[in-house]
Amino acid sequence: MSSTHETTAFVDEVRAAYATSGPAVQLGALVVDGSAHPDAPVQLPLSVLNRHGLVAGATGTGKTKTLQLVAEQLSTHGVPTFLTDVKGDLSGIALPGQSSDRVASRAADVGQQWAPAGCPTELLALGGIGTGVPVRATITSFGPALLARVLDLSEVQSSSLALVFHWADRAGLPLLDLADLRAVITHLVSPEGRADLEGLGGLSKQTAGVLLRELLAFADGGADAFFGEPELDVHDLLRTVPADGAGGADGEQRGVVSCLELPAVQGRPALFSTFLLWLLAELFEELPEVGDLDKPKLVFFFDEAHLLFTGASRDFVAQVAQTVRLVRSKGVGVVFVTQSPTDLPREVLAQLGSRVQHALRAFTPDDAKALRATASTYPKSDQYDTEALLTSVGTGEAVVTVLSEDGVPTPVAWTRLRAPQSLMAPAPPEEQQRIVAASPLQAEYGTPIDRDSAYERLTRKTTAPPRTAEAPERSRDDDAPSSGDSSDEPQRPSSSHTPSRRRAEPVDRSAVEQVLGSSAFRSFARSAASSLGREITRSIFGVRRR
Ligand SMILES: Nc1ncnc2c1ncn2[C@@H]1O[C@H](COP(=O)(O)OP(=O)(O)OP(=O)(O)O)[C@@H](O)[C@H]1O
Ligand SMILES: [Mg+2]
Repeated sequence: MSSTHETTAFVDEVRAAYATSGPAVQLGALVVDGSAHPDAPVQLPLSVLNRHGLVAGATGTGKTKTLQLVAEQLSTHGVPTFLTDVKGDLSGIALPGQSSDRVASRAADVGQQWAPAGCPTELLALGGIGTGVPVRATITSFGPALLARVLDLSEVQSSSLALVFHWADRAGLPLLDLADLRAVITHLVSPEGRADLEGLGGLSKQTAGVLLRELLAFADGGADAFFGEPELDVHDLLRTVPADGAGGADGEQRGVVSCLELPAVQGRPALFSTFLLWLLAELFEELPEVGDLDKPKLVFFFDEAHLLFTGASRDFVAQVAQTVRLVRSKGVGVVFVTQSPTDLPREVLAQLGSRVQHALRAFTPDDAKALRATASTYPKSDQYDTEALLTSVGTGEAVVTVLSEDGVPTPVAWTRLRAPQSLMAPAPPEEQQRIVAASPLQAEYGTPIDRDSAYERLTRKTTAPPRTAEAPERSRDDDAPSSGDSSDEPQRPSSSHTPSRRRAEPVDRSAVEQVLGSSAFRSFARSAASSLGREITRSIFGVRRR
């Protein structure tokens, strides 16, 4: 299509526009008329990663591999990453890749010195559902707005839930797990709680009943496992480890890749996506203001990001957009990975500075509309017909525009991506087990704990004289009414949902103390009172305190 002269001029333009003075992720090589030009590398400066990004494309076009490619290079640069592994195909990032003719020819094509290499990796799993170190959050820190989203509550129900939190806060009743929350609602609608309920105003018995039913169904669906303690301390996602031996010079660090393994909860997107937003809010709250850095402190990748937004309310979307905007100044980058940019709300999309757009398909009129919309958001290109290009790039190729180090959008570049050096497949199950067992996070999170909280306190009130002893690890079953459970009583979830909790109760004291000394203690300190930080999270997520 273009003359040699034009091609040379464009190659020069791209080389100059994508050049960086600081460290950068090597995405790949510019493609002109189907041929790669390794002398025009397409790179993403580390300094603009907190301006966020988007990886999009039809199924099978290479989105997840792009995510893997970017994350492994960030690790090499000492930047920790957090990946949502929805399909389980990212765990291979822990292991060296396998060479093949395809990999070799791609590498040669784009000027990549390919050598197999895995990254230091943690596998995490929500409440231990699936293969991973269990991660949990307390109900208090989750907050009513996020919980309302997971439960798909109406506006009235949501504000009622917020009132329940408010009351528990004031009454000094820690809400650690779902049973605590149920106990508080049950109390409020019980004869003993009548005065409290009237004092609150605005919570009807009928709505309370609905909330109880929703919470029960939620717990039955398996959510119980990941509400509680020890709560994940987001600082544990910010780790680096020394680069071992050959690869790194003295003192060189690798960023730890934390993969949240989600295949086991794939069918419950509202659950895990809300957890992810909690994580973002926690990061916002816990990390200091740093402004723009040479390289980010953490990059957060949401694969299958459409799951975050399907069916979300306008409010919720606005809250996400705000969190994404605010977390930038904490040195945290967010990369959304999804099939079509139109999967993301406009106000979120508008904040994504860099884009790696794999091929889009235009089979249906809706596809065609999405394609036009996508093309229109790209900087105008003299070189390409963006719409045509978007439907024609090959697998592992993409239409790229990033922010330069000066914050200026780079010219649109058809890019053939490098091949990830880690394994492009799930890590074998025994490798996954090995990684989980060897994790330094096991000591902190491996064993669930069950402290005295709203459930215990309220149950005591109604069934026994108050005790004074602090017995954080005491089994809740000691306190549970032994018989006569009616649906109005606070109930423990049936044991089939929490086998690990029950088995874990009589753990040896030193293990318990170890846990209490670490994240559990911190999370208690945070959840015991309505700390300033908590107020901020709650205000991000739009909860008005009265
Ligand atoms: N950068 C790359 N280097 C080498 N091979 C690649 C690259 N990108 C994609 N591929 C090939 O394309 C296949 C599909 O890629 P990938 O799994 O990333 O697609 P996807 O867009 O995430 O698909 P889905 O929407 O189904 O999740 C890979 O298994 C791999 O064989
Ligand atoms: Mg994928």
